[in-house]
Amino acid sequence: MTDLTQPPPHLPFEAIARERLPALLRAMPKAELHLHIEGSLEPELIFRLAQRNGVALPYPNVEALRAAYAFTDLQSFLDIYYAGASVLRHESDFFDMAWAYFERAAADGVVHAELFFDPQTHTARGVPMRDVVVGLSHACARAHAEFGISASLILCFLRHLSEEEALATLEEALPYREHFIGVGLDSSERGHPPEKFARVFARARELGLHLVAHAGEEGPPAYIESALDVLQVERIDHGVRCTDSPALMARLARLRMPLTVCPLSNVKLCVFPTLSAHNLPQLLEAGICATVNSDDPAYFGGYVGDNYVQTFAALPQLGARQAWQLAANSIEASFARPADKLRWRQALDDCFARAVPSQPGA
Ligand code: ADE
Ligand code: ZN
Repeated sequence: MTDLTQPPPHLPFEAIARERLPALLRAMPKAELHLHIEGSLEPELIFRLAQRNGVALPYPNVEALRAAYAFTDLQSFLDIYYAGASVLRHESDFFDMAWAYFERAAADGVVHAELFFDPQTHTARGVPMRDVVVGLSHACARAHAEFGISASLILCFLRHLSEEEALATLEEALPYREHFIGVGLDSSERGHPPEKFARVFARARELGLHLVAHAGEEGPPAYIESALDVLQVERIDHGVRCTDSPALMARLARLRMPLTVCPLSNVKLCVFPTLSAHNLPQLLEAGICATVNSDDPAYFGGYVGDNYVQTFAALPQLGARQAWQLAANSIEASFARPADKLRWRQALDDCFARAVPSQPGA
């Protein structure tokens, strides 16, 4: 039985030259577990959809919109992110957005993706829940058919809204239960602790849905603790502020509780001043099941491959062994079927074995 947490015993990671890392980081099979599909809306597509749907935008052109992507914290980003999502009106818009993401993901070696979506952002504007879910779901099915990417959806509740609204959203989504695998919690973190959503997460658990939540992005370690203790989540999204609490770090490592870390997002939203100050090496060193993801790639300057390549370039402590570990963690932490996980782990090990230079004379 393959232990998904352990590297192949005889693989000489140190023989893989640093110059080979960027190509290896892009090519290695990986899962993306923290991607807000509305955050993959590129400015060009925002303008195309605005024109198609007759939506007026407060920016004259793509360049002016992109120039507004200078964020000081999470809220300054969310204000622009929700405005961008206002161009999504029809099922075909949701399909087109997700399809554009899958084209990028396929080029980045993504074999499995779990996409967050924020239905409340759309239903509040009168878009039917069905059009949101079915449009995204069709793109997931086509990604599997054309790229072999296994893809699923996680419905997120907006934590700046009430728990009653989250409960109503979950009930509204139930006719489309077969199209999503879990629920998450996103939006403004500070002042909206996980325990505010205890009942809706209990209801989702009864329904057999997977449970994840953003915690410890800007919020304190206590929010990570209550996501674990009260919501009983299976993964923590971000979680990087766990390093403020050694006891919590030890707990996360002991549980092998995955963290879906998003390095470029953390720098753009000023959680860390630079990539070279990011705590990803510290998380791995502590034995935490950290993964690398893109969060909102159209807003933060890169897709998942860029997140890997730029983070490794900035942090000399990260080499081939850590690249393997992060990709293996992403497979282990996914909600995919065990047989698929084993297949991708084998493909990952094969990819690294091919990257080892052959011995002269061997
Ligand atoms: N929604 C989209 N991106 C988010 C992030 N980084 N944190 C919280 N909510 C989000
Ligand atoms: Zn996020």
